[in-house]
Amino acid sequence: MLDSNDCILSLDSLFFEKPIVHKKPLHQEPSPWQLEAPPSLAHIPATQDMQEEAESLSTLYVRFRSVFNEFPFFNYVQSKALDDVLYTSKNFVACAPTGSGKTVLFELAIIRLLMETPEPWKDVKAVYAPIKALCSQCFESWKKKFGPLGLNCKELTGDTEIDDFFEIQDSHIILTTPEKWDSMTRKWKDNCLLQLVRLFLIDEVHVVKDTTRGATLEVVVSRMKAVHTYRTSQNPEAGLSMRFVAASATIPNISDIADWLSNEGVQATYLDMDESHRPVKLRKVVLGFPCSPNQTEFKFDLSLNYKMANIIQTYSDQKPALVFCSTRKGAQQSAAVLAKDARFIMSIDHKQLMKNANSILDTKLRLMMLGVGYHHAGVALSDRKLIEEAFTLGDLPVLTTRTLAMGVNLPAHLVVIKSTMQYVSGSCEEYSEADLLQMIGRAGRPQFDTSATAVIMTKIQTRDKYMQLMNGAEIIESSLHSHLVEHLNAEIVLQTISDVNMALDWIRSTFLYIRALKNPTHYLCLKNLNSLSSIGLIDMDEDINIKPTAGRLMARYCVAFDTMKQFSEVAGTENLSDLIELVSKSREFSDIQLRMNEKRPLNTLNRDKNRVTIFPIEGKIKTSEMKVNLIQAQLGSISIQEFGLTQDTAKIFRNGMRISRLSEFLTQRSKTGFSAVLNSLILAKCFRAKLWENSPYVSKQLDKITAMVNSGLTTFSKIEQTNGRELELILNRHPPFGNQIRESVIHLPKYEVTLEQLPGYSGATAEIMVRVNLKNQAQLLSKRTARDHHYVSLIIGDSDNTVVFLQKLDFMLLKCGSWSKKIDVAKASKGEEISVNLISSEYGLDIQQKFTVHY
Ligand SMILES: Nc1ncnc2c1ncn2[C@@H]1O[C@H](COP(=O)(O)OP(=O)(O)OP(=O)(O)O)[C@@H](O)[C@H]1O
Ligand SMILES: [Mg+2]
Repeated sequence: MLDSNDCILSLDSLFFEKPIVHKKPLHQEPSPWQLEAPPSLAHIPATQDMQEEAESLSTLYVRFRSVFNEFPFFNYVQSKALDDVLYTSKNFVACAPTGSGKTVLFELAIIRLLMETPEPWKDVKAVYAPIKALCSQCFESWKKKFGPLGLNCKELTGDTEIDDFFEIQDSHIILTTPEKWDSMTRKWKDNCLLQLVRLFLIDEVHVVKDTTRGATLEVVVSRMKAVHTYRTSQNPEAGLSMRFVAASATIPNISDIADWLSNEGVQATYLDMDESHRPVKLRKVVLGFPCSPNQTEFKFDLSLNYKMANIIQTYSDQKPALVFCSTRKGAQQSAAVLAKDARFIMSIDHKQLMKNANSILDTKLRLMMLGVGYHHAGVALSDRKLIEEAFTLGDLPVLTTRTLAMGVNLPAHLVVIKSTMQYVSGSCEEYSEADLLQMIGRAGRPQFDTSATAVIMTKIQTRDKYMQLMNGAEIIESSLHSHLVEHLNAEIVLQTISDVNMALDWIRSTFLYIRALKNPTHYLCLKNLNSLSSIGLIDMDEDINIKPTAGRLMARYCVAFDTMKQFSEVAGTENLSDLIELVSKSREFSDIQLRMNEKRPLNTLNRDKNRVTIFPIEGKIKTSEMKVNLIQAQLGSISIQEFGLTQDTAKIFRNGMRISRLSEFLTQRSKTGFSAVLNSLILAKCFRAKLWENSPYVSKQLDKITAMVNSGLTTFSKIEQTNGRELELILNRHPPFGNQIRESVIHLPKYEVTLEQLPGYSGATAEIMVRVNLKNQAQLLSKRTARDHHYVSLIIGDSDNTVVFLQKLDFMLLKCGSWSKKIDVAKASKGEEISVNLISSEYGLDIQQKFTVHY
């Protein structure tokens, strides 16, 4: 590994020795974009059915010309698609090589929508749904292009929901991912905003075959079709349309995609352009390297690092090279080896590179001075931006990168794919064809290059396979069948489907249906309905009418069928540790990887003497499941230093919150067993508060006082007992800050629970009066720290692990100040003591006590 001292010491001798990459070419060769001399924008003839409107169109042109300010001509592919995209409203699919300007087709479709819609374009809504990285890229460009026309663009890729609806209210173009749009449209029947969408743009439509993401895209398309059918039935006169426009660089069976995107009666049109229309010609090279049978993937990957310098020297033509690596570590190692092995410094402007390198926060990345940078999701955002910029400007000759998605923005003259294997959920598998094409697609910078090279480095044994792959592409199949059960359930809950006929209609609207007719053996489906009913998620009666039951929860919390199945098997005796283990095993975490460099910090956490990990795992940390389980440590309020781990922690919390809520509802619903119900309540609370239930850091939950934890003011009572001025002194703040903090603590609800046995003994049951009191109700009338949705759950269990009583006490208790109820307690076989628990939805305000019943 290179350290920063190495960099500084060796700079002078390294520079200028043998520069193999230099800055952008000074003169530009004629671009093949213009060779075909396609029509310029101003001269595009109107098609026949638009003849009468030709005049008004020409005025419209002036208006929309600004969208295409970047270039003087439409290229060949765009010119070919123009008639279909701009002059008809038919659904449309294009397959054209990477870098052939397909984004313009989406822009033209938006313009068509504007042309069709009378101004003001208040209710115009178009949705663009590609992968996340493309969203941001397009967002930046479309803001500039469509903003001046008065259109608002909105990027929606986060995890929130409530505000999103507010945000899209005034947006005309919504840039989102299929996943996000899936969650947004789950309540489409209640939301008229979603029913305004008239144009749905699908970039990289080959994603439909992706095993995890493809199914989501399919159901989203089907749902948009259902939205359209619904609004047409509500308002048949309005003649509303819903247009789908899709594009990809790799669809051998494009007619199937066109069939899928066709509307009833109107066939979608398509454009199929082969590689010969690639504006930057691409040379594809596949290199095989020896790998002995007992060599691990890891070692093989490592060995490739040492071949890299040579490959770059041979194929880069002294222009920017991008190296795709399968792991973060791999990207870092390659960069370090390259920086030692070769001299990648351009002669003219290394000053700029030095300047960039000096602004980099991560010292390891300072090896940028040697002309090599690396880039992955674990690199801090500001560093990543700097590196991307330096690379795009041609200042950084070589960049190694981990993520494909992150490479989207980064065209290079040479693309090298270092090894065709990647790590997915802890195991090694080959890149998908779509992934490879995406990576290869980064080769060629249309502004500077007329040719480009992509090199695939693989094992000798797999060389032929990749040679073949480069020369043809695999048919796109649906991947909906493998997730059909979850999606079918969601649509039933959404009421898109309420009987078997509707289920069949829905299936007919999918890509799965199109492909299943052509390739039936590839797919197998009523089986899924049976799976759902087998664990009680839906009810099917004799006439096979379908009704959702627990399936509602599955859809509401968006969890996988396997996770539901796992929780349906809860025995009832589970304690907190068992439940955490169960949550850690959920399918939702299957993409969390255990990285080599994380094992050590995780093992340290697991053995931590301060007991941040309340339930240590036996043995060494070996699986990603164990890693997820160690989320416990974070609940113990320690700060995790490792950046990658922190990122995963955030993700684990997001999913964990959902799953723990689900387990809370599931166990409550079935009253499985006192222990499981109580602990799932506690666990859900811990996830919500991001703290252990009995954590000494409960005060962290109050927004203003995070800093106090460091000063030892960890509990509410300590804060309450401290004088306001003293608090200010400790925190170095001005009055009335201290008083404000004390106020918020004083105004937290404080409960008490009392039980009283009522006279009259029967031997088998006893009558108990339970009361919950809000001790400080008077204080809370004027002001309350707890929000309106704050609630407490009262749960009583007996020594046979039976739930005797369970009730959620919400807002009404906060308002009325007290609650009481007479309950019957049947005699348990194992003892007469009952456990009484009041668990609050957040804050450390719980009460847990015992009560002995007399019979
Ligand atoms: N008519 C044109 N003249 C000149 N440059 C163009 C033209 N159309 C697009 N470009 C440029 O070509 C580059 C590639 O365009 P774009 O990203 O739309 O390609 P793509 O077909 O979507 O590729 P991919 O399959 O990799 O997503 C962009 O930099 C774009 O500005
Ligand atoms: Mg594109």
